[in-house]
Amino acid sequence: MNNDTEHEGLLEESLSRFLIKWETQRLASRGIDNSDWKKFKERVLINFPRLFNLYFQLYSGHDNFCSHLQDLVDIIARMWIERPSDLKDLDKNREKDPTWFQSNQMLGGVCYVDLFAGNLEGIRNKIPYFSELGLTYLHLMPVFLVPDGENDGGYAISSYREINPAMGSVDQLVVLAGELRSEGISLVLDFVFNHTSDESEWATRALSGDREFQDYYRIFPNRQMPDAYEIHLREIFPDEKVNGKRSGSFTYHTEIMCWVWTTFHSYQWDLNYANPVVFNRMVEEMLYLANVGVEILRLDALAFIWKQLGTDCENLPEAHSLIQGFNAAGRIAAPALLFKSEAIVHPDEVVKYISPVECRLSYNPLLMAILWNSLATRKVHLLNQALQERFNIGPCCAWVNYVRSHDDIGWTFSDEDAQRLGINGYDHRRFLNNFYTGDFEGSFARGLPFQENPKTGDKRISGTCASLAGLEKALQEETDVEVELAIRRILLIHGIILTVGGIPLIYLGDEVGFLNDYSYLLNPKNKRDSRWVHRTFADWVKIDKRHNPSTIEGRIYQGLERLIKLRKENSTFFGNQIDVINTENDHVLGYVRKVKNQRVLVLANFNEHIQNVIVNQEQLSVSNSNVSDMLTGEIYELEDITMGPLGFLCFQI
Ligand code: GLC
Ligand code: GLC
Repeated sequence: MNNDTEHEGLLEESLSRFLIKWETQRLASRGIDNSDWKKFKERVLINFPRLFNLYFQLYSGHDNFCSHLQDLVDIIARMWIERPSDLKDLDKNREKDPTWFQSNQMLGGVCYVDLFAGNLEGIRNKIPYFSELGLTYLHLMPVFLVPDGENDGGYAISSYREINPAMGSVDQLVVLAGELRSEGISLVLDFVFNHTSDESEWATRALSGDREFQDYYRIFPNRQMPDAYEIHLREIFPDEKVNGKRSGSFTYHTEIMCWVWTTFHSYQWDLNYANPVVFNRMVEEMLYLANVGVEILRLDALAFIWKQLGTDCENLPEAHSLIQGFNAAGRIAAPALLFKSEAIVHPDEVVKYISPVECRLSYNPLLMAILWNSLATRKVHLLNQALQERFNIGPCCAWVNYVRSHDDIGWTFSDEDAQRLGINGYDHRRFLNNFYTGDFEGSFARGLPFQENPKTGDKRISGTCASLAGLEKALQEETDVEVELAIRRILLIHGIILTVGGIPLIYLGDEVGFLNDYSYLLNPKNKRDSRWVHRTFADWVKIDKRHNPSTIEGRIYQGLERLIKLRKENSTFFGNQIDVINTENDHVLGYVRKVKNQRVLVLANFNEHIQNVIVNQEQLSVSNSNVSDMLTGEIYELEDITMGPLGFLCFQI
């Protein structure tokens, strides 16, 4: 099937055959009205050719290509028919306003259900808190059925159709999604589609020797292929050791006397997307989540989903084709659904996932890492460069900007970029690791190393925002001055994610400055994974102090509240258009946000000392040199600005 005309013919034929089949299915199922059907048909005509081409590209070599395609199409049609009518209404609304997420009203929050509020019902009870904070996007970390023992914080999923009984039920999730939506909050869940847990039905059947299910994974009878792959693979979790049964990214299973590909933990089995059945089944799981009411899916570990011998098996072109395939299926059956990319990789690769036909949203791991870099170095060169050269992604997509996630901080800047500023990437990463683990003389940070790799000298950093920003050390060893500086650091980097453009995402607990919690070391399930130091239980006694300005919690929360208000009340913070300006001061970052004829100038001082900044009026073409800070109302003169330690200023110009 290589011939172009044959390909075209097959596309036409399948399109018309499928439309007839779906029409029949629609007639058979009650409750789908004509206008809905018309809309659906339109979506099929637009998106099916794209889906077909991707599927053809990936799977045309398979004997049963046509029957797999038919199966896929049936899944899509069935899931669309089953989609609840309120979500079909949402589909229409989102189609009318496809870049709704660019609004300056957007504000994200992320938490673990159990750690933050016990269970789904607890989360429901916290909706007033989310609304108070102004959230419009809530990412709940995995709530699905997982193994009882280690489960990577829920990222080893055994079934998408069952909720972890400790957290609640699918019905509760549906109710929660609806209630959040009625409060203007979009539910975000993970689509952990690179792997399943070793207790999933598919893995269990594979382990029992069922060949059909062994094909769902990458399973090898001996070390020959794993060793051949291994030559080019990066070890993601080098700490992972399972009594000699793991080597590199593969785990040995005596039951079947085979090696299973396990990029992350040994109990997380990588799916085999070279098998079209896996793609089809996972499309079904994805649409199931969409029909539960999930509006944004965070595509977990998406860089790893395709493997190819002789490559590092990350970010391969087929991984993009697969994601585009999921996207096209979503556009047909659940068009309100958006994808957010979790590519914590080289910045050249991060952007490749961002597009309307792939992921409209993406974590911005570069900005995250460089913000921490700037706090450590007190210099903004790398930050200037990152914003100037790597921030622009066009108006149809948005960054999700964050200072902290539930994962480690990896220093994912480009060595070439750093080199141009005279910085050696390897040495600089070592410095940052030392700084954030508190090993560097004078460091304010209290972080822990994560996944130290003795072979490469590489490691990453764990720790809460407040502990990394100096609050833990200041409270335990220092004076009020350092406490104040730590609070300013927290507010400074949040000030940037709230104004720089895109969706700001707060790791819940950071708004009141939760510190590291070392008790994870006592929990056999988590003690091997330092990320648990920042995955703390929500301390509601602390959160309840948020309105008291004489408490640390209150100082952080109210500072953040002012920044959130600033964002929400100024439509200049809509979208992601940004111009970086030269402040002629190594410690001060400056950028201008612009929407229509409104402009805001943001200045951020990364130094603990007072800094003077001269903003060139001509460079900005402003006529009035007197400007007032939007946060405090204080008047400044553009040509002679004195910024306080770690100060953050915003001027309408
Ligand atoms: C993602 C998750 C992380 C998890 C990994 C494997 O990176 O954020 O927590 O360990 O995927 O699922
Ligand atoms: C996943 C892991 C994270 C790791 C990254 C490496 O995102 O969760 O810990 O740094 O992969 O690419």
